[in-house]
Amino acid sequence: MEKNNPNKFKIIHVLSCEIVSLEGCEKGFITKEIIEKYCDVNSTTFFICGPQVMYDFVEKELNKFNLPVKRIRREAFGEIKDILKHPDFPKEVAEKTFKLKIHIGGLSKEIPAIATESVLVALERAKLAPPSKCRSGECGFCRSLLISGDVYVNPISDWRRLADKKFNYFHPCASYPTSDIEMKIPRNL
Ligand code: FES
Repeated sequence: MEKNNPNKFKIIHVLSCEIVSLEGCEKGFITKEIIEKYCDVNSTTFFICGPQVMYDFVEKELNKFNLPVKRIRREAFGEIKDILKHPDFPKEVAEKTFKLKIHIGGLSKEIPAIATESVLVALERAKLAPPSKCRSGECGFCRSLLISGDVYVNPISDWRRLADKKFNYFHPCASYPTSDIEMKIPRNL
């Protein structure tokens, strides 16, 4: 809240419980209609925080406005729990383990990488102490260069900058190997 402008901060309670009520609250779920009733959608950036079922619902409602991806932010929710539940994950590689060649600092090493685990987890299993913070693709702290090979990046965790995509940088915490890969973690991290 801005100290000199208390009107900048406004809480609207939207209660789905039929028994509980608050003065001035909205009833039901956070729908497109409720969002546009209280927000100037064209100039607002949204931040969703709550249980998964709420993410799914509110995100679906926000998508009706066709907003740029960067205007819908989420709480960092950590790594995806079960990548196989994501419909566009290439199921044909699910049972596979690939070779991951890693260059980190002065060290080069080949380690195994299971298709259903993130590249970050493969690096951690190999005790390489890779950099990480949010583990959900948002902070960029684990940003690395993909020298060769392919990874699956789930769309909801894909917060790479356009330039990074163009020059093959990726976030190991949000990427799953779909072939043998070679990668480098930049030294300045
Ligand atoms: S740890 Fe934040 S993007 Fe990977």
